[in-house]
Amino acid sequence: MNTDQEEFWDVSAGPAWVALQEQMDALMQPVLDLVLTHASLTPGMRVLDIGCGTGASVLDALEQVGEDGHVTGVDIATSMLALAQSRLDGRTNTDLIKADAQGHSFEGPLYDALISRFGVMFFDDSAAAFANMGRALEPGGVMTFAAWGPAPQNPFFMDPAAAAAEVLGRMPKVDRSLPGPFAFEDAERTCAMLETAGLVEIEADEIDLHLTPQGSLTDVANLCCDIGPADRALRHFEADEAQRAALGTAIAARFAAYVQGDRVRIPACINLFTARKSA
Ligand SMILES: C[S@@+](CC[C@H](N)C(=O)[O-])C[C@H]1O[C@@H](n2cnc3c(N)ncnc32)[C@H](O)[C@@H]1O
Repeated sequence: MNTDQEEFWDVSAGPAWVALQEQMDALMQPVLDLVLTHASLTPGMRVLDIGCGTGASVLDALEQVGEDGHVTGVDIATSMLALAQSRLDGRTNTDLIKADAQGHSFEGPLYDALISRFGVMFFDDSAAAFANMGRALEPGGVMTFAAWGPAPQNPFFMDPAAAAAEVLGRMPKVDRSLPGPFAFEDAERTCAMLETAGLVEIEADEIDLHLTPQGSLTDVANLCCDIGPADRALRHFEADEAQRAALGTAIAARFAAYVQGDRVRIPACINLFTARKSA
């Protein structure tokens, strides 16, 4: 089904995310906090975490559901799950499933809640995927997930993309509504799709926050060369080390506007969705 995404996440993006796990988690912690605040998990709950990646959200959800709760992480990429597994070793109230969440037959007891930080924008049929994930929820269970809001309000993507166009050349145009980081930037369209999936009490909030990457301006620019649009452009143009360095410099020049003291604080806009399985 989502074989292109499996290849992308397991082989292309996965190893970079694994190598950069600490930086990525620090960068995106405000988004995880947002998801968990809205999900209102309570002790004893059984939680399904979709596209759990290297496991940060599983760990934080475990804190909230306590010893009597349980968190299952699902991800399509073996490379991401291997790191998640090592971070969870020794814990008994959690498990990880290597699966495409769009078609996987979830077995065993149903879940009280579903959460996801940026893990649900990659399905070739999102309505089918949400209907499938809904089947894994108890009646009345709630899905809470974060997706990137409108691209123009997300310089973490737009600035590296613009810098790459300047330094390397224009990339082929992509349809942002296809599986990818901005698949759910149009909240109205996403809500309609959740309705098609049979969910009720659907809500979308556009939330402004700041991403808080670790390190200096140069560190953050280098991070952006390893992931996202700059990484894609470097691969596309088969860039050499000098071009990579020039791109890092161009990204740093754009991100300089976000330096506050010794930190880079990048404004971001997140679409936060909640939807309930009918009781
Ligand atoms: C942007 S990363 C986010 C990872 C993690 N949630 C985090 O915030 O650190 C997207 C994740 O979704 C996973 N993913 C993509 N398509 C998937 C699918 N069809 N089923 C399950 N996981 C999927 C990827 O392997 C990747 O780990």
